[in-house]
Amino acid sequence: MGLHRLLGLSVSVPDPEGLAAYYGELGLTADGAGGFGGTDGGTQVHVAEGPFRRLLHVDVAADDEATLAGAAARATDLGATHAWQDGVLHLTDPHTQVTFRLQVAERWNQPAVAAPARDNRPGSPERRNARAAGVTAQPRPPRRLGHMVIGSPNLAASRDFLLQVVGFKMSDQMEGIIAFTRCSTDHHNVALVESPVPLLQHYSWECDDVDHVGHTATKLLRADPERQVWGFGRHFLGSNYYWYLRDPAGSFVELYSDMDVIDDDEEWETHGASTFGPEHIANAWGPNLPLEFIIPNDLEVLKAGWGAMEG
Ligand SMILES: [Fe+2]
Repeated sequence: MGLHRLLGLSVSVPDPEGLAAYYGELGLTADGAGGFGGTDGGTQVHVAEGPFRRLLHVDVAADDEATLAGAAARATDLGATHAWQDGVLHLTDPHTQVTFRLQVAERWNQPAVAAPARDNRPGSPERRNARAAGVTAQPRPPRRLGHMVIGSPNLAASRDFLLQVVGFKMSDQMEGIIAFTRCSTDHHNVALVESPVPLLQHYSWECDDVDHVGHTATKLLRADPERQVWGFGRHFLGSNYYWYLRDPAGSFVELYSDMDVIDDDEEWETHGASTFGPEHIANAWGPNLPLEFIIPNDLEVLKAGWGAMEG
């Protein structure tokens, strides 16, 4: 027993109304109290007002009280900050200032999406005398929040905190560049990258398939082409198709489909996690990684925001 699901995240941003309007375009459902969700999994993103964009909390589901107690004991052993609030264990990474909130929650089976008809392939036409379903599909809300990438001024320490205190598992990493970790069967739920200041680099919504990614991203880009950041492409690490757009607060929103599922840790370690090199970090195919994906355009604003907090 252990952790089993990403429940959500909380951010603060200078203009919550602007972000709410964008989420409306994306098709998310608003709960009227600053919370937003896709069609599966309920409210998963919580938005509050703050002086600069900031990731506050990451909520994670655990199987039982023993899982929480184990994390609290590890925090004590390793000298990490932890607190209890209404049965929820708060574990704060000192390097990102993100609080991971662990709570006991039921395991959840995501509603299954029917498999699409197979694509026509050379010499193997599966679909005859008809258009593909993907061309007549419509933009529609994504399913659920799948993962996020957090920028940390100390990648190694934040990674160790996630693995050794919170209880995430390592899926893939390139030392000093990126660490992909999971608290569910998704290849990654939280990935970490190095950053001069803590930041929410991107967060990602799961779509049914590649056409769902394409239709929904296209809708947002037709409304405002300046939202384009990176895509369309396919990642090597995680295998997912991706398309990254800008949200009005400055974080990137990814729409993705077809991510690797890991439900047998040993099988992944021995067979699934094949070796890779630096050339695989960005993607398997697609456009080159844009500079702003590594150095965000609002970096000076974030530095000033964090500086004001420390001052
Ligand atoms: Fe991603």
